Amino acid sequence: MSTLVTGIGELVTNDPARGDGPLGLVARAALVVEEGLVAWVGPAAAAPDADARIDVGGRAVVPGFVDSHAHLVFAGDRAGEFEARMSGARYDGGGITSTVAATRAASDDELRGRLGALVAEMRGQGTTTVEVKSGYGLTVGDEARCLRLAAEVTAETTFLGAHVVPAEYAGRSDDYVDLVTGPMLTACAPHARWVDVFCEPGSAHAFDGEQARAVLEAGRAAGLQVRVHANQLSAGPGVRLAVELGAASADHCTHLGAADVDALAGGTTVATLLPGVEFSTRSPYPDARRLLDAGVTLALATDCNPGSSFTSSMPFCVALAVREMRMTPAEALWAATAGGAAALRRSDVGHLAPGARADLAVVDAPSYRHLAYRPGVPLVRTLDVGV
Ligand code: NIG
Ligand code: FE
Repeated sequence: MSTLVTGIGELVTNDPARGDGPLGLVARAALVVEEGLVAWVGPAAAAPDADARIDVGGRAVVPGFVDSHAHLVFAGDRAGEFEARMSGARYDGGGITSTVAATRAASDDELRGRLGALVAEMRGQGTTTVEVKSGYGLTVGDEARCLRLAAEVTAETTFLGAHVVPAEYAGRSDDYVDLVTGPMLTACAPHARWVDVFCEPGSAHAFDGEQARAVLEAGRAAGLQVRVHANQLSAGPGVRLAVELGAASADHCTHLGAADVDALAGGTTVATLLPGVEFSTRSPYPDARRLLDAGVTLALATDCNPGSSFTSSMPFCVALAVREMRMTPAEALWAATAGGAAALRRSDVGHLAPGARADLAVVDAPSYRHLAYRPGVPLVRTLDVGV
């Protein structure tokens, strides 16, 4: 069974072999899908025959968004914390403990229902790959439970037992790190692909560089790959640690010094920027241009979570990246698709060259530029090709 998708006014392939910059644009394009994979890409006038045909009426088609950073397994609500922030309160990660209490008290079905609703919300806005972290259980049983639920919706599951020090370990953070690197890791590793840590020495709730190193090295020894919450609230060792350990991604990167930028530029670690956080915590945005000028690979993700960024919308993050971080519309779209794939070390998503997964998003506009040009307008939907 093959399907021809035609009438594409502007196709973004992210295939540099197309010779039109990193986005690999094709005008008046078509694409053939077979067995869920892209089988052919080119001008509509030269398209081969297929068993079925979908005409998108001149709209733009882009690779489905790859949201490489999200916290979707939780219960509870922190709208009050958000409201307080908008009146001047600062975000320091302390509110996470209230989500932990609500998550521990929730049934599997409640957590599964909320997780499914958020994934559906994402899909409805063009996201076709999402990473999901644990981090609101913080007991051996609850972390393993959250990861089992996450694995029901994605292969990109991340063990974040070292999100914050839970209340019952207050003042004993090293003991908690022993739990995370011991029995909790043993219970969680079978359900996770990645290990992550909130490395933020300036926060009373999170972990310092040595604790973060212990968590990441233990995770790596258990077969997990590394990603890091780094330099979100203040300068610190997180980004350099991520690069040193060969992490796939250092996420946030809001407070960087020259040594951090140099480390990223000299390594293979993607810098994942999460502008929904700066928007929702009313904080200064990361310096995307400095990173781009240094040659660092950037990803954009939502960080969807009930505290620092309760948005599931990649188009919103693209618009923020353009308006607030001065990325071009092309840089922002690339970071939200191919950049996210790089941050997850995936070569089958984030682009639409032959052989890639046929994860297509249709923009109800003639050009991908409208993603930033028309902020807040629900222009994007995923295209179900039915094969
Ligand atoms: O990526 N920084 C740590 N974790 C999340 C926030 C989680 C929360 O506030 O509930 C983040 O911003
Ligand atoms: Fe996060």
